[in-house]
Amino acid sequence: MAVVQITRIVRFNAAHRVYNPALSDEENQRLFGKCNNPNWHGHNYTLEVTVEGAVDPITGFVVNLRDIKQVVEREVVEHVDHKNLNLEVPFMAGTIPSTENFVLGIWRVLAPAVAPARLARLKLWETENQYVEYDGR
Ligand code: NI
Repeated sequence: MAVVQITRIVRFNAAHRVYNPALSDEENQRLFGKCNNPNWHGHNYTLEVTVEGAVDPITGFVVNLRDIKQVVEREVVEHVDHKNLNLEVPFMAGTIPSTENFVLGIWRVLAPAVAPARLARLKLWETENQYVEYDGR
């Protein structure tokens, strides 16, 4: 059975401060640099959501991309766009809002929500020069 992957891309922006309250101010500054700015800063994020499955012989689709678009908007974009990741996003509560932790948080909300499609991979760009990837392992 052929497995085909399809990807939906969304863009949003959000503010954060990357710091660990368990560490001293000096240690936070040394570890996180500009991302430790106490008065926050923002990023224009790009999220690539890849789902996979068999092609349905009735529709010719793995999944209706319209449904995936709605799920990503409802479960992720509405909660994070123009928000502060440290203060306002329930699925990021209690975590250091690094791109790594952000992609894990997004996975936790999206994986069950895209069923019956299977979430295969998330790619989260924090700047145009760097991204993190996660495939559920
Ligand atoms: Ni940052």
